[in-house]
Amino acid sequence: MNILILGSGGREHTFAWKIAQSPLCKKLYVAPGNSGTDQIAKNLEIKVTDFQAIKKAVLEHKINMVVVGPEDPLVLGVHDFFLNDKELAHVSVIGPQKAAAELEGSKEFAKEFLVRHNIPTAAYKCFNISNVEEGYAFLETLNPPYVLKADGLAAGKGVLILNNLNEAKTELKSMLVDAKFGEASTKVVIEEFLDGIELSCFVLTDGKNYKILPTAKDYKRIGEGDTGLNTGGMGAVSPVPFATEDFLNKIEERIVKPTIEGLKKDNLPYKGFVFIGLIKVGKDPKVIEYNVRMGDPETEVVLPRLKTDLVEIFQAIANQTLDKIDIEIDSRAATTVMLVSGGYPEAYEKGKEITGLEYVIDSIPFHAGAINKDGKIETSGGRVMAITSFGNTYQEAIKKSYQNIEKLHFDKMNYRKDIGFDL
Ligand code: AMP
Ligand code: GLY
Repeated sequence: MNILILGSGGREHTFAWKIAQSPLCKKLYVAPGNSGTDQIAKNLEIKVTDFQAIKKAVLEHKINMVVVGPEDPLVLGVHDFFLNDKELAHVSVIGPQKAAAELEGSKEFAKEFLVRHNIPTAAYKCFNISNVEEGYAFLETLNPPYVLKADGLAAGKGVLILNNLNEAKTELKSMLVDAKFGEASTKVVIEEFLDGIELSCFVLTDGKNYKILPTAKDYKRIGEGDTGLNTGGMGAVSPVPFATEDFLNKIEERIVKPTIEGLKKDNLPYKGFVFIGLIKVGKDPKVIEYNVRMGDPETEVVLPRLKTDLVEIFQAIANQTLDKIDIEIDSRAATTVMLVSGGYPEAYEKGKEITGLEYVIDSIPFHAGAINKDGKIETSGGRVMAITSFGNTYQEAIKKSYQNIEKLHFDKMNYRKDIGFDL
């Protein structure tokens, strides 16, 4: 079959790399893609939210399946757009419908879902411009640090964690009254701070059945020792060493099962990946967020460990026969280190030539913010490339990633030298 992947990051290069290995995939397209996908698929210059242009490409290239990478098109209803169009309704879309994508599109919606289905999460209250004063009063009842979350999509920047009460009040006002995050902060969720170590759990569902993929841990801060500004993710490790069998059982029983049951009970149509952000508090998992897609750079360590044909899995999701599929996982550890542009996550320059890729041995460079410019690979974003390696232990894998990074170069290249430091 012909498959189209929407997106342009390291996540989508990894999807393309995995899908290209499937005998079920005849022609592979990526929109808009990057220099990595360009080597194994055909890139189409289309924005992921331009549904009319996507439709045109799907008809022109006789696409049978669309795999949605990022959240924006899902929250905007790309799956529903396909189902509601006679010419597109036969195309399988991997990603939830709009109603279910609200789990990522609205923090309040997600919190209400969690509470309704008795899934462990931080205590919270939601405020808007009409009850800012109650928001201040609620903050006064909490102990620091204070967690403020813009309700809507804010490009990963909508969560503030503040140590000082007055600062928290000022930020609450700036979000609700001064629209700090635009539309996204017309509502703000204030929640209890959870103290513990984070990890992510990835679940595939066809709306009826589910399969759990390997766990991963990503490193979100720009600086070593988890310091400095938040980024999209600077590296990842899979599996998570502290996720013991007992802990994984708790995740499945207390979180995954009620989540899938909750989607069914609430009539939220879901065929795709559920990314559950967790914090281990004491010995117990609690949910900090849902994402309705795979993580980036978590995909770069989770998918390489998947031995099963991904297209076969996607077909089973489309046909709601996921229960018939055996998911086989490589027992080795995988790690990835993200190379970023100097200055990221603040202002940075683009258009720097990336050299040394031909010397990489025993690691997979997944391209992210990188494009092919007249045969040269150049930087085009903040997160440029994720260097993934396998090892019998995560330490062995990470060593390989760092050895290969020594061979790579672009002007002002930056990366974290301590991925896995806290495990
Ligand atoms: P989110 O966008 O919901 O993933 O939040 C971004 C980051 O904020 C998370 O990865 C956590 O590190 C942190 N965070 C979110 N909610 C909480 C919470 N209730 N307690 C502690 N940290 C949190
Ligand atoms: N790496 C975190 C995310 O994809 O949201």
